[in-house]
Amino acid sequence: QKNVKIGLLGLGTVGTGVVKTLQTHQDQIEKRTGKHIEIRRILVRDLKKKRGVSVDPSLLTTSPEDLLSDSEISVIIEVMGGIEPAYSIIRKALQTGRHVVTANKELLAKHGAELLELAEKNGVQLWFEASVGGGIPVIRILQSYLHVNRVQSIAGILNGTCNFILSEMARTGRPYADVLKEAQALGYAEADPMNDVLGFDTMYKLAILSNLAFDIHIPPTAIETEGIQQIEPIDIEMAHAWGYVIKLIGSAAYTEGLFSASVGPRLLPVSHPLAQVNDVLNAVTISSDVVGELTFIGKGAGELPTASAVMEDLICLCSGGAGWRIPAFHKDNVQIDSEEQRVQT
Ligand code: NAP
Ligand code: HSE
Repeated sequence: QKNVKIGLLGLGTVGTGVVKTLQTHQDQIEKRTGKHIEIRRILVRDLKKKRGVSVDPSLLTTSPEDLLSDSEISVIIEVMGGIEPAYSIIRKALQTGRHVVTANKELLAKHGAELLELAEKNGVQLWFEASVGGGIPVIRILQSYLHVNRVQSIAGILNGTCNFILSEMARTGRPYADVLKEAQALGYAEADPMNDVLGFDTMYKLAILSNLAFDIHIPPTAIETEGIQQIEPIDIEMAHAWGYVIKLIGSAAYTEGLFSASVGPRLLPVSHPLAQVNDVLNAVTISSDVVGELTFIGKGAGELPTASAVMEDLICLCSGGAGWRIPAFHKDNVQIDSEEQRVQT
C-alpha cells in the first residue's frame, strides 16, 4: 500500500508538531519508506480553537467514531494524553486491526502490558518512543540495541518541565510558580502540570523504562515519588554555595531479583555529568554489565522534539519494523512490599 492513512488523536503541542513535520518532511519520508502519509481525520475537543498549524477544517472532528469507522485508516497516532478516552479508543483501534503510535506515558505505565498483549493478539503493533525522554531514542536503545547486556540500573532527568523550572530558578532566582507558567506556555508541561511537578510524569517514564530494561512488570505505584513543588530559590542558592545543584532524578536498579526505584529532588555535585544538563534537556544513563555506562542527552519535551520521536516510530512502522514490547507475562511473579516500595521477583 503506497498511501498510509492516519487518524490523529489530538492537535495540541505534540499533534501540531506531527502535522508540521508531515508538512515539511513528506519528501524525506517518501524517500525512506516509499510511502506517502496522509492524515484522514483529527480528533479534538474544541472545533473552534485557533490551531498552531494550518489544517483543512473538514479533517477535524470531536467524534472518535469518525476515525474508528474509517476503514481506510490503518494507523492511529495518539497524542491527546490522559487515560480516558485515549485508553478505550486505543483498545478499539488495536482490536480493529490498526497500528498505534502513542506519546502517552501515563497510559503506557498503567496499561502498557495489556495493550501490548492486545496488539500482539490482533497482529498489529504499538509504538511509544515519544512516551519517554521526548526526542531521545531511549526506548530504541533498550528494545533494539541492548540484547547481550543485562541492564543493572537506569538513572536520569526525565521531565523537561521540572528541569526547566530548576535550571531557570538557579539561573535567575525567579520563584517556582513564575517559571512553571513559562514552561506551560512553551508547551513542555502536561495538561495538568501537577503531573510534572509532583514527580508523577517521571514516575510513569521510569516505570516504562524499568519494564523494558529489567524484563519485569513494574507498576508505577511501586516507585517512591516526590516532586519539586517545595523547592524555593533559597534551597537552590544554599545547594550552590556548598557546590551542589538540585535536579529531579528518577532512578531504578535491579540486582539479584530485587527491584528498587525512586523519583525525587537530589543534590548532585556541580561536577556530576547530569548537573550540567539544563533547560528542557533530559538525560538518561543506562548501566549494563558488558558495555558499562551509556548516557543520552536531548530535548525531553516540546513540539518538534516529541514529534520527531512520534514520526520516527511511524517511519519504522511503515518500513516493516516489529514494534515495541513490554514483558507482559511476569505479573504473577512480582511481589510488592508497599512499605519498602520495592518489588521482589
Ligand atoms: P495538549 O497540548 O494538551 O493537547 C492535547 C490534544 O488532545 C488537544 O488537541 C485536545 O483537543 C485533544 N484532546 C484532549 N482530550 C480530548 C478529548 N477528550 N476528546 C478529544 N480531544 C481531546 O497535550 P500535548 O502536550 O500535546 O501532549 C499530548 C500527549 O503527549 C500526552 O500524553 C503527553 O504526556 C505526551 N507528551 C507530551 C510532550 C510535550 O512536550 N508536550 C512530550 C512527550 C509526550 P483541543 O485542542 O480541542 O483541546
Ligand atoms: N511534560 C513532560 C515533560 C512532557 O515536561 O517532560 C515530555 O514527556
